[in-house]
Parts: sequence; C-alpha cells; structure tokens
Amino acid sequence: MSQNKPHKQSNSSNDSVPVITVDGPSGSGKGTLCQKLADQLGWKLLDSGALYRLVGYIADKKGVTDPAGIADQALRLDIEFVTDSSTGELRSILEGRDVTRDIRTENCGDLASRVAALPEVRAALLERQRAFCEMPGLIADGRDMGTVVFPTAPLKIFLDADAEERANRRYNQLKEKGFDASLAKILDEIRERDARDLQRSSSPLAIAEDALVIDSSAMSIDEVFNTVLKAAAPLI
Ligand code: DC
Repeated sequence: MSQNKPHKQSNSSNDSVPVITVDGPSGSGKGTLCQKLADQLGWKLLDSGALYRLVGYIADKKGVTDPAGIADQALRLDIEFVTDSSTGELRSILEGRDVTRDIRTENCGDLASRVAALPEVRAALLERQRAFCEMPGLIADGRDMGTVVFPTAPLKIFLDADAEERANRRYNQLKEKGFDASLAKILDEIRERDARDLQRSSSPLAIAEDALVIDSSAMSIDEVFNTVLKAAAPLI
C-alpha cells in the first residue's frame, strides 16, 4: 500500500486534546478495538464509518443521487450518537429514529462506500468529525483519520488483516446478530469495497507515514488491544 505524505494542517483548534487514530480496511477489527480503547481510557469515540453509512442511508431513502444533493444531506445530517447504558454501544439516532441496525447491513456498507468516494461529501463531513475532538481524548475510527482528519494525532494505528480473515469475521458477526449471510458474497464485497476505498481520488485508504501498522490476521483482539495500549502509554 502506498504511503501518504505527512499533512501540515492542524487537527482543528483542539491540538491539546490527545487523539488516537485507527485506520484500516473493512473488517480489520477497528470497531471492536476502538470501543475497547474508549471504554478503557474513558475517551470519546468517533465512528466515522457510521457517518458515511448514515449519509448513504438517508440519500438512498430520499432518492438523492447527485453529488451536490448528497453533500447537502451530509451537511444537514440530523444525527445523535447515544451510548446504550446496558451494552455501552453507540446507537445512531437519525432524525429522532434509532437506525443503528439499519446502517449495519452489507447493503448500507456498499452505499456508504459509494458516497464516501465523493469529495463533496468528504468535505461536508470534515468539520463534523473534528468536532468530536474533546477532552479527555478521542479515539477516531475510519479510513483517513490519521492522514486527513487528524493529521497531527500523537498516535496513529493502521490495522490490517487478510481479506479472507476479514470476511470470516464479518460473517460470524452478522450471524451472531441474526442477519442472513453468505461467506463467498461477503468476501467478494470486501474485495470490491477495498478496491473502491483504495483507488478513490479523494482521501483514499492509505497508511500515514508515522502510523504503527498492526497486521491482526493471526492476533486476538486482546493482543491487538494490549499492543495499542502499550503504544499509547505516553499519552495516558
Ligand atoms: O468502517 P465502515 O465499514 O463502517 O465504513 C463504511 C464505508 O465508509 C467504507 O466502505 C469506507 C467509508 N469510510 C470512509 O471512506 N472514510 C472513513 N473515515 C470511514 C469510512
């Protein structure tokens, strides 16, 4: 994978807030890792993929197909992330309705990947993502967190895993949540989405020059978590 040039711009006006960015392809385990880090450190969590999923979802529901119209939906997104008191999970409330489950489908992942390729949409979501940067700290989960959204973050993780392993994990996750799933179809979709995320011209998935790269293919979530916690020690 190509390395990105370091970006000179600031994260936002909040450079004093510690940020850990976690980027990587679909199914590399970023979501689980980020939730565990946020719980352990008591920091805020930005699930930027959920924002792209919400934009894809609402544009599809409203039948908006032109890039400017989709970017407008992104700018006006009426969304609240609420922590579920029993599970600790973030729930997505769109225009007052809980759509957490609706946006987790493979179809919505595909819609998200398509709207995420539009530079207008990425620009519309930039400040909204940076607004998550609050004390005592932020865990930012996505594809361009360390390269574009928080380029001055003191710790950047790039979490990778083989496509087959990622497809297996996604399949098991979907089955556990009671969704219908086909492993072969998921693998095809992962490869297709990887290609789109890697090849798009606007903020493609790329490894920040100063990122710590972790290949989680043969690692347990606890091993990955402990590796990141060790790297985060100077920040906490
Ligand atoms: O992480 P996820 O599967 O929820 O992300 C859904 C899609 O959104 C994925 O195909 C890539 C895109 N995405 C992105 O382009 N930039 C981000 N920061 C996060 C997600």
